[in-house]
Amino acid sequence: MAKKIDPMKDIVSLCKRRGYIFQGSEIYGGLANTWDYGPLGVELKNNLKREWWKFFVQEREDMVGLDSAILMNPKVWEASGHLSSFSDPLIDCKSCKSRFRGDKLIEDKLEMSVEGKTLKEISEIISSNALSCPNCGQKDFTEPREFNLMFKTFQGVTEDSSSTIFLRPETAQGIFVNFKNVLNTTRKKLPFGIAQIGKSFRNEITPRNFTFRTREFEQMEIEFFVEPGTELDWHKYWCDESQKWFSSLGLNKDNIRFREHSADELSHYSNKTTDVEYKFPFGWGELEGIASRTDYDLTQHANTSKADLTYYDQKNDKHFIPYVVEPSFGTDRTILTFLLDALHEEELANGNTRTVLKLSKKLAPIKAAILPLKKNEPRIVEKARQIFDTIKTKWNVQYDDTGSIGKLYRRQDEIGTPFCLTVDFDTIEKDNAVTVRDRDNMTQKRIGVDAITDYLEKSLSD
Ligand code: GAP
Repeated sequence: MAKKIDPMKDIVSLCKRRGYIFQGSEIYGGLANTWDYGPLGVELKNNLKREWWKFFVQEREDMVGLDSAILMNPKVWEASGHLSSFSDPLIDCKSCKSRFRGDKLIEDKLEMSVEGKTLKEISEIISSNALSCPNCGQKDFTEPREFNLMFKTFQGVTEDSSSTIFLRPETAQGIFVNFKNVLNTTRKKLPFGIAQIGKSFRNEITPRNFTFRTREFEQMEIEFFVEPGTELDWHKYWCDESQKWFSSLGLNKDNIRFREHSADELSHYSNKTTDVEYKFPFGWGELEGIASRTDYDLTQHANTSKADLTYYDQKNDKHFIPYVVEPSFGTDRTILTFLLDALHEEELANGNTRTVLKLSKKLAPIKAAILPLKKNEPRIVEKARQIFDTIKTKWNVQYDDTGSIGKLYRRQDEIGTPFCLTVDFDTIEKDNAVTVRDRDNMTQKRIGVDAITDYLEKSLSD
């Protein structure tokens, strides 16, 4: 039977113990809410980003990629509205001095969304519902005030307002400011999209829940440019494509939902937004936002920069600013989702339990482990090394002789390795074959050494 005790605690501990994710700057006591991806984590992250790129860019003719700079001209943020309005309502508890996001306090305590509400409305909801401080229980908060989430730094040797620049809070704006460059160099026709994967930074008031909300994170974003009037059909299309992508990597359908924003939740520039949410142990949380953003961003940049950001429609001989539909994924949240979804604790027939990470084979950091039954038997070691050297050129595989076979199986189960290949005496004395053990059902079969590559090729693409 599959069961999970405390999935969040279990996954944090597994990530640390096995080298998926470590606390950032740990030897110095950490830096609040920063996380480092370890040897397995970086493989998982690379696999996830590769799968995303393959599905959304490589396999499509209407999509191209981009890798724009994190530091951008501050006018970008003026035009996009981030400098004036990319903020959260900050409140302080007057009693214990803890700081909170007013909107999140309401969301957590009253289970209602207050997106789009003014500071005054947020203040009224907090006081009329007599909400108390989650830290000390008192009901004495400061009035909410806007706290801008942009990370500031300085460019060059002087540190004054003229040299202030910002770390990007989303990768999207790098795409908008390159719209004309991409259009001119690729000669794409509408509808087409530009995709980008990269780091973003937000000075979040309350980062929390492991890698779910952090100040430094990675995004995988698409800006898909369409003719005005067709954007809602495309919005539906991108919701369907997102669903397909999550399913292609084995995400349990019951743990995911598509939640449409209500009218008062919508950003002022959006005529439809849907959040893809996952059922995290701490509640439903957003993995991806799919927003129909009209022509807001390109118009803002055209007005501020004075560049011509129109598209020329040859057929109808007219220029116009395209509308855009934006599927925006959080890489780190998606990784956390796949880890939680994959974590299983199973009771075995002999009464023992095993922890197994049933990650999609496409995502698993290590595709196969080569285990010599006896590390002191030169013929076994030589054969196992030969197999390892052959298949390591195709996949990320591991040679492991650091324990008994039972112990090695348990370790590979826990890190999600789909196959273990054991080299034993029969391999060298009888059949030139290995025992292949399947992570998910623990079945074992003999496969000829010469057939291993074909076997893995086929099984890993299932
Ligand atoms: N360009 C649109 C945009 O940035 P968003 O809803 O603010 O939209 C998109 O962010 C995705 O980025 C979210 O669905 C989430 O997965 C991820 N994300 C946003 N803030 C995050 C944070 N502080 N920590 C981790 N991931 C975050």
